[in-house]
Amino acid sequence: MGNILLAETRYDGRHLTGTDVERSVKTLKDIRSIFSDSEAGRKLPDEQVIYEVESYLPVPSGTLGGLFFGITFIHPGRVGDEYFMTRGHFHQIQDRAEYYWCIAGEGALLLMDQQRNTWTEKMYPGSLHYIPAGVAHRTANTGSGVLSFGACWPADAGYDYERIDREGFSKILVRKEGIPTLIDRPTR
Ligand code: F6R
Ligand code: ZN
Repeated sequence: MGNILLAETRYDGRHLTGTDVERSVKTLKDIRSIFSDSEAGRKLPDEQVIYEVESYLPVPSGTLGGLFFGITFIHPGRVGDEYFMTRGHFHQIQDRAEYYWCIAGEGALLLMDQQRNTWTEKMYPGSLHYIPAGVAHRTANTGSGVLSFGACWPADAGYDYERIDREGFSKILVRKEGIPTLIDRPTR
């Protein structure tokens, strides 16, 4: 191929591979407190895997103008009636947007603005989601298989997890009569 370089990192439509790909795993013990039903949470094993992320971070975090790329895999399951989901975050720099696109499975993207209005977008293979700047985002697996989705976001966006840890989303996604339903978060 002459002087055409081969990319070290590959995305085969499902997984990221290559030496620069970072992997992280979140088990229930890491994120138990994000689920509303703490009694149901205590009954599930510490090591229950909730989600995994493969990411390609080709520039240092904080690089102005850089882009990051990641694939998230959320396992199927519920804590009580609440679907397995990601921790969720605002970006540290508020005016940083992001793209998500669903690769496999069924789910919901929960979005919450600065006024704590929460809404959802259905995720299904091929669905594309633009997460506007200043909007917190969390994903939940509402199906019976793994939900996987891609993400692309600015390298300087950063994560504000603390605000979600402290205040949560204003609504939670639960299974009600077999249907994913957004309800007000019960007060603890
Ligand atoms: C990056 C982004 C995703 C999430 C991933 C895990 O800005 O939104 O790559 O980081 O889906 O979710 P969190 O980060 O909320 O644990
Ligand atoms: Zn994000």
